[in-house]
Amino acid sequence: MKITIIGAGNIGSAMARGLAQRKEIDVTITNISKGKLEPLKEECPHLNISYNNAEAIQGADLIIIAVKPWRAQSAVDTFRDVLDYDHQMIGSVVGGMGTDEISSLFTRPDGKLPAVFYIIPNTAIAVQESMTFICSARASQEQNDAVQRVFDTLGMTMFVEERFMNAGLVVASCGIAYAMRYIRAAMEGGIELGLYASDAQKVVIQTLKGASVLLQKNGNHPELEIDRVTTPAGLTIRGLAAMEEAGFSASVIRGLRASMPK
Ligand SMILES: NC(=O)c1ccc[n+]([C@@H]2O[C@H](COP(=O)([O-])OP(=O)(O)OC[C@H]3O[C@@H](n4cnc5c(N)ncnc54)[C@H](OP(=O)(O)O)[C@@H]3O)[C@@H](O)[C@H]2O)c1
Repeated sequence: MKITIIGAGNIGSAMARGLAQRKEIDVTITNISKGKLEPLKEECPHLNISYNNAEAIQGADLIIIAVKPWRAQSAVDTFRDVLDYDHQMIGSVVGGMGTDEISSLFTRPDGKLPAVFYIIPNTAIAVQESMTFICSARASQEQNDAVQRVFDTLGMTMFVEERFMNAGLVVASCGIAYAMRYIRAAMEGGIELGLYASDAQKVVIQTLKGASVLLQKNGNHPELEIDRVTTPAGLTIRGLAAMEEAGFSASVIRGLRASMPK
């Protein structure tokens, strides 16, 4: 599979870093301004870099647009005329831009449109631990499978109906930031209780990793694992009750709701 990524910003370069680990995938990444591509190439020598989008998409099976929404049309304009609408697939990670909107960037007089994938990874794609949501328009089952296989190598993928994409975007993509805030808060608490900052960070990360692996391995509901830690009249239940009194669960849910695209 040959992939060209248009835009070497946060998510474009994170995807390139992750994909560069897969020897079976040939990755080219482009950027409009100078200065971002060379350090990336130094870090990942297998990557191809280019400042010319039209050249960079030659022979690509999948072209992934990774620019800010307001720069998507101008980015597409740089290569639309040389795109093979029958064989080249378009992916876009532009948040909140669904398959209709992505397709409209490719409108041409004969009305033909390419197969389009709306892909929402998160930044953990750089370490091959993304939670990625994908939906498509005009793609064959074979094309859907091929694109899913690429992202399966970069973490976990859910191929969904388009109506689920916004929830996926909020919970998984914005969710990385929310998880980081929990980590920061728990670290601050640990420091207040006497841990050094560097130790607090290690402790919180390992504890969260343990919680995640427990749930992944046994498939239990989190409340069942919580029950195992909460001795009647013990310490954990006192902590949980104080957190809920301060609005922990309600705050998380309210934050997720506030993030939903309108
Ligand atoms: N950050 C995330 O976690 C995340 C997750 C999922 C989806 N997304 C989506 O991904 C998109 C990109 O977000 P980001 O945070 O990566 O933005 P970003 O850091 O601003 O990166 C966009 C990159 O695209 C480059 N670019 C703009 N026009 C171009 C063109 N015509 N040809 C080649 N490169 C071009 C920009 O170049 P210069 O700025 O150097 O000029 C910039 O390096 C957004 O639409 C966002 O919704 C982000």
